[in-house]
Amino acid sequence: MNADGRTRLDQTPEWTALAKHREELGNLRLREVFAAHPDRGTAYTLRVGDLYIDYSKHLVTDDTLRLLRELAAATDVFGLRDAMFRGERINTTEDRAVLHTALRAPRDAVIEVDGENVVPGVHAVLDKMAAFADRVRSGEWTGHTGKRIRNVVNIGIGGSDLGPAMAYEALRAFTDRDLTVRFVSNVDGSDLHEAVRDLDPAETLFVIASKTFTTIETVTNATSARTWLLDALGGEEAAVARHFVALSTNAEKVADFGIDTANMFEFWDWVGGRYSYDSAIGLSLMIAVGPDRFREMLDGFHLVDEHFRTAPAESNVPLLLGLLGVWYGNFLGAQSHAVLPYSHYLSKFTAYLQQLDMESNGKYVDRDGREVRWQTGPVVWGTPGTNGQHAYYQLIHQGTKLIPADFIGFAEPVAELSDELKAQHDLLMANFFAQTQALAFGKTPDEVRAEGVPEELVPHKTFKGDHPTTTILARELTPSVLGQLVALYEHKVFVQGAIWNIDSFDQWGVELGKVLAKRVEPALTEGADVPGLDASSRALVAAYRELRGR
Ligand code: F6P
Repeated sequence: MNADGRTRLDQTPEWTALAKHREELGNLRLREVFAAHPDRGTAYTLRVGDLYIDYSKHLVTDDTLRLLRELAAATDVFGLRDAMFRGERINTTEDRAVLHTALRAPRDAVIEVDGENVVPGVHAVLDKMAAFADRVRSGEWTGHTGKRIRNVVNIGIGGSDLGPAMAYEALRAFTDRDLTVRFVSNVDGSDLHEAVRDLDPAETLFVIASKTFTTIETVTNATSARTWLLDALGGEEAAVARHFVALSTNAEKVADFGIDTANMFEFWDWVGGRYSYDSAIGLSLMIAVGPDRFREMLDGFHLVDEHFRTAPAESNVPLLLGLLGVWYGNFLGAQSHAVLPYSHYLSKFTAYLQQLDMESNGKYVDRDGREVRWQTGPVVWGTPGTNGQHAYYQLIHQGTKLIPADFIGFAEPVAELSDELKAQHDLLMANFFAQTQALAFGKTPDEVRAEGVPEELVPHKTFKGDHPTTTILARELTPSVLGQLVALYEHKVFVQGAIWNIDSFDQWGVELGKVLAKRVEPALTEGADVPGLDASSRALVAAYRELRGR
């Protein structure tokens, strides 16, 4: 039993029914399934907003989908969803509400946390961000020496980096090309060094993004950035106010750091780091694309929020995607999930999803603190598709592992491309469609023989097929479409966490490494003795010190 009185997941009749169904189904052959149901290619599709979703190439039947939906009902996914949208404290281990959906709610919406409507506060910050972004973009906001800001450097890590960095890349075609926008996250000093080495400090604005404002990587890089700036501008502390702004929930720490809280854009503890880029954390993105485009992106998020909140189970896309992941991870033994965008602008999309999915659902205990007896979040990986084709697709096609994959593609390129480059788009998309076809239907030995291939090479050139994919297609990668895509994945992750009965909104697993790093640092710098350091780490520290000549 769970603390709420419900049966544990793997003892529910719905789970058992799925396990039995999986046995009975055996190895589903997509060729046979499509032969028996020629309309599957249109029947197994859904639309949400501008997204067309094809799930026909999955190893599922109508019965599988029905049983999965029954599992969702038994685990009350929609009940938890409603609690999230109502602002209940569903992040139980941190005792917090989970309300990233409020960040994109319309101005007149009412969403309460502890009896207070949070929507006016959300819009007040968005308005403040918009006013500031406009001042930077127009040149009205100048640096300490009176020069116009031409460079924006976002310093943050995890959710305070991946979201804005990914979205900046994704929406590059919509950015002000006269502005240089860079993202620094790594505590490796070379990250900051390379980001600023060709910039004029007098024209550079640092956006320090940290929910807690205690994250060591960010505070260290921000301190070094301040030194770099002050060294160049004559050391006057007053310069900091013109060149540093902060995005945080922690006004006290921001002030301690030396940033005027008038230059702080706030957000709230009910916004998780990996769900934060449409809060103040998106400021550098807003400066790059402008407030209107930013709002279009938020509208895209909201559209999918509303779909997730209201669509029935049969046509609810995040629910479907979440359930497909449960099917592969819990009943077919898949360990990972590939996300393969066929848009170079989405080159950071999968890295962003890694935090969203793996920090959310990489948990081994359930909400009641008991070890789970079922697989939870998959390893999420991938890079833009055509590059992947010449790297790891071999393993997806002919390896021994089951790797469900999402293919994301667009009908039109967005940028102002030359006619010749525009024409390349059909070639890109031909690859996109060809790959999911090859993965699903493969090539039989007889087909290989019919091409005159010598018998000894037939097994090597045979493709078994039955590699499942979801295809997500949209007309073009606009700000709204980006918002729709991200919200789709956010809610997919939510669905899976709800089914697995884990807290998708905490991240305790990151803590231990942080604590140990603090303990080990004096051993590296001063050779200090670290009590309790294991023999392997002790020897490594000694080797490191020797290599550094200490
Ligand atoms: O990786 C752990 C984490 O806490 C993430 O959840 C968060 O996005 C990141 O660190 C950065 O945290 P902050 O915004 O507080 O600097």
